[in-house]
Amino acid sequence: MSLVEEIAKRRTFAIISHPDAGKTTLTEKLLLYGGAIHLAGSIKSRKAQRHAVSDWMEIEKQRGISVTSSVLQFDYAGCRINILDTPGHQDFSEDTYRTLMAVDSAVMVLDAAKGVEAQTKKLFKVCRERRIPIFTFINKLDRYGKIPLDLIDEVEKVLGIHAYPMNFPIGTDGKYLGVYDRQKNQIELFAEDTSHGQTERVSEIFAPDDAEVIKRIGQNNFDALQDDLMLLDEAGESFDIDKINSGDLTPTFFGSAMTNFGVQNFLEEYLKLAPPPAPRLSDDGIIEPADEKFSAFVFKIQANMNPAHRDRLAFIRICSGKFERNMSVWHAPTNKLVKLSQPQQFLAQERQIIEEAFPGDIVGLFDTGIFGIGDTLTDAAHKFKFEDFPIFPPEKFARVQAKDTMKRKQFAKGIEQLTQEGAIQLFYPVGTGTDSYIVGTVGTLQFEVLQYRLKSEYNVDVLLNMLPFEVARWLKFDDDSKVTPATLRGADRGMFVLDRKENPVLIVENEWSLGWITENNPKLIMNAVPFEE
Ligand code: G4P
Repeated sequence: MSLVEEIAKRRTFAIISHPDAGKTTLTEKLLLYGGAIHLAGSIKSRKAQRHAVSDWMEIEKQRGISVTSSVLQFDYAGCRINILDTPGHQDFSEDTYRTLMAVDSAVMVLDAAKGVEAQTKKLFKVCRERRIPIFTFINKLDRYGKIPLDLIDEVEKVLGIHAYPMNFPIGTDGKYLGVYDRQKNQIELFAEDTSHGQTERVSEIFAPDDAEVIKRIGQNNFDALQDDLMLLDEAGESFDIDKINSGDLTPTFFGSAMTNFGVQNFLEEYLKLAPPPAPRLSDDGIIEPADEKFSAFVFKIQANMNPAHRDRLAFIRICSGKFERNMSVWHAPTNKLVKLSQPQQFLAQERQIIEEAFPGDIVGLFDTGIFGIGDTLTDAAHKFKFEDFPIFPPEKFARVQAKDTMKRKQFAKGIEQLTQEGAIQLFYPVGTGTDSYIVGTVGTLQFEVLQYRLKSEYNVDVLLNMLPFEVARWLKFDDDSKVTPATLRGADRGMFVLDRKENPVLIVENEWSLGWITENNPKLIMNAVPFEE
């Protein structure tokens, strides 16, 4: 198969959702339909993970770490599908956001009873900024939920994206019998779910005017469907593939991952509409996936928490050309050639060494400590750098210092390296001693990882004090004069720190506490992430 054909069949996406909306269940059902697993229930121990903040490390150890569920690859209908995991719950971290840098589209799962929830909003925002296509799966239709038309309205109002229902449920709340497919103009009625969703759901297809339909669903349901469809046709959005591709219109599907209601239809329509690997911007212009010269970037680094195997895996997303085992590539930040000798790929649950991979694919590389998040790897004959990764506003802060002051050196080295790798964001307090740092993250689990890794990789025990702040603002004055604790009025209303490039940052409790500072510093400009240079 040619490079162009390999690219055309790839679909690389992430499923985003608020915890418990059904991301794991939907993933599992996609694997079931893709033939990668035979009975649902195979992505096990999710439950165990969920209760696991404190013994997360233990679980990582036992399971050979969560890498196995980081990327799932399977084939369906001539497509090669890569699903990237976006950790949620307590695992929420910068990894969750960064994963979205490596996908070409996203599937947003909503719980029909809850609608758009907080974490979905956060993740949606990142997808929206990238302008990637977003598909919506409204889940849990097998039980009572909000009215379908209201859910569409909620997606549009709360998220500010247009929604086009691809199918529409038939029946009454909690007792839906099937769906009307608006693209194919056909009705699909589902048989009872007799296996608790463990096997594929049987369904029958009818023309919308087939007399059998009324017989099966009853006149009332039939009339209600006609009314809803008329409303949608008159007042709703029209289907527009360009708007889908630019992330302005979300094709929306109704279903139930648990009972396999509408899952296959979703998968098939999704594969038709979702884009193959997209070109990427670099400092040498746009890099097309079909460019024969290899390129990739690192989007995630996972340290093995097992002390017996101190290896780290760097996950790369291939952007152009063909990846081959043992190839040597140019690593932009060190300006060195690196041999990629033990590349790992993930087929459903198993890790295996791979020989080749193509744009859109994810490969895990053993990392001896040279890789950092956002690093570019290219063919030595065409060196360039992809756009920098965005910095995600930190929301949790802690003061960190070494328990044993004699170990200050190792501590500083460890913390600098983990920052370079992208595990944490580092700030320097102003005006106090140099033996402590302020660490910022987007999720509390990152602190546990930090503590554990400093101990296991640098042999340093740390003292970690959580700070009562949730908002960071990079600061500058509009006349370019220097912002310091002395020139900023109200600097003591939060904590004044410097980032790694010595840019001034104020950390405060919440957005509200910025009011006084804004009012009393008329020249001040604030930003939630560093100012562009
Ligand atoms: P997440 O990854 O987004 O956190 O959600 P997950 O798939 O783990 O699903 C969360 C809960 O919602 C699970 O129930 C799951 O079975 C249930 N669920 C998922 N899809 C559907 C659906 O279509 N309909 C209904 N009614 N429930 C659904 P649980 O009780 O927490 O776990 P379990 O005992 O079912 O495993």
